[in-house]
Amino acid sequence: MLLQQGGGKRVMEKNIRVGIVGSGNAAVFHYEAYKRVTGIDVKVVGVTSIDKSQCNDFAGRRNIQPFASLDDMLPVVDIVDNCTPGYAHEAVSVAAFEAGNHVVVEKPFTGYYGPEGDDSFHGNRFPKQKMLEEAVASARRIIAAAMKSNKKLCYAENWIYAPAVQKEAEILSKSRGQILWALGDQSHSGSPSPAYGIWKLSGGGSVVGKSCHPLTAILYLKQIEGMAFHGKAIRPKAVSARTHEITRNPRFVDKGFLRTDYEDIEDYCQIHLIFDDGMVADVFASEVVMGGVHNWLEIFANNHRAKCNLSPTNAMELYNPKEEQLAEVYLLEKIGTKQGWSTPAPDESFVFGYPQEIQDFMEAVATGREPKSGMLAASDSVGVLYAAYLSAERKGTEVEVPLDPALDS
Ligand SMILES: NC(=O)c1ccc[n+]([C@@H]2O[C@H](COP(=O)([O-])OP(=O)(O)OC[C@H]3O[C@@H](n4cnc5c(N)ncnc54)[C@H](O)[C@@H]3O)[C@@H](O)[C@H]2O)c1
Repeated sequence: MLLQQGGGKRVMEKNIRVGIVGSGNAAVFHYEAYKRVTGIDVKVVGVTSIDKSQCNDFAGRRNIQPFASLDDMLPVVDIVDNCTPGYAHEAVSVAAFEAGNHVVVEKPFTGYYGPEGDDSFHGNRFPKQKMLEEAVASARRIIAAAMKSNKKLCYAENWIYAPAVQKEAEILSKSRGQILWALGDQSHSGSPSPAYGIWKLSGGGSVVGKSCHPLTAILYLKQIEGMAFHGKAIRPKAVSARTHEITRNPRFVDKGFLRTDYEDIEDYCQIHLIFDDGMVADVFASEVVMGGVHNWLEIFANNHRAKCNLSPTNAMELYNPKEEQLAEVYLLEKIGTKQGWSTPAPDESFVFGYPQEIQDFMEAVATGREPKSGMLAASDSVGVLYAAYLSAERKGTEVEVPLDPALDS
């Protein structure tokens, strides 16, 4: 993992060993991304998960070691890749930093999951001021553990690495553009994770689970703009938000096409964000949108306008007259039918930024530089998302975004 300068060339002393925590959806696409890393010797050596049978199956299919516990895995890996649901992000990440590992942590960075052991907790009815304070405190504890250990905190917000978002970052930075208004959305017909839908496991619904993606890409672009312009990131300042529980509205008529088994989370949100330079962003997210994942961002700058389409894109347009003949062909995330016209994603992982994200993290660990998506994006996203919950509780009243003083530049 360590690098030496030898004759102008960097030489790897040993390979980087990765251990994955969690063996569900995110673990699968992270594993695939590690296989695509180039120029750095990386090996996923093992996995651990509280679902032992899923863990063994995941390990068996990939010929890696299933570890009985995180404690067993920590001494034999350099990086812990935290692919657990949000409720476990802090405990797993802090334990990994304390053991001297670098950490990759999935979104949402962290949040509020209810009082320990309180089975009567319902996130949608819990006071949001307390949630905001606790979520921000949790984020600060992880950041403090990362700083103390001097290891890398890699925040797995793949939208930051989507080629369209990276291209916009380049345009902004080289043209010294200023974002006046950013608009974004992530929506689909419901997450496949069983943990999603239960606040004490997921930390919330559309706000933390979906709006985090376009929101964090926008936070990142404003950081890039600020660095290019003033050498200082532009940070979020205040937020107004609304949330709704559309599929639990007694007047909702269920036709069977949307996931509806949410316990205590919202399935729709809109967030209006004001930055410290007075410019604004609007982010939408919901679980009530059919026709495939709807991932997009539009940037209205003072010198250009950009549409970043992650899904759908029109790289390919397909007409299929008969559903069954494509039964074995993957077309697009969460597309409801393969019959008729569709826009298959030829390399969806790449367009979503998954391999580029892991490549950047491995380079950051190998060279000692910061990842593009690190502490600032992670920390600021938690502040905005939980300030949004407080605003929504107050039916849209503006709420100040608390920022971690340890990250003030
Ligand atoms: N970036 C993206 O596009 C994207 C997509 C899907 C999920 N995610 C994120 O990835 C994380 C995992 O989501 P998922 O869809 O893989 O969920 P999942 O429910 O499919 O898998 C979670 C895994 O973690 C394990 N687990 C739960 N608690 C644990 C603990 N305390 N210790 C060890 N293992 C534990 C479960 O047994 C399971 O194997 C979530 O934070 C989610 O928001 C991100």
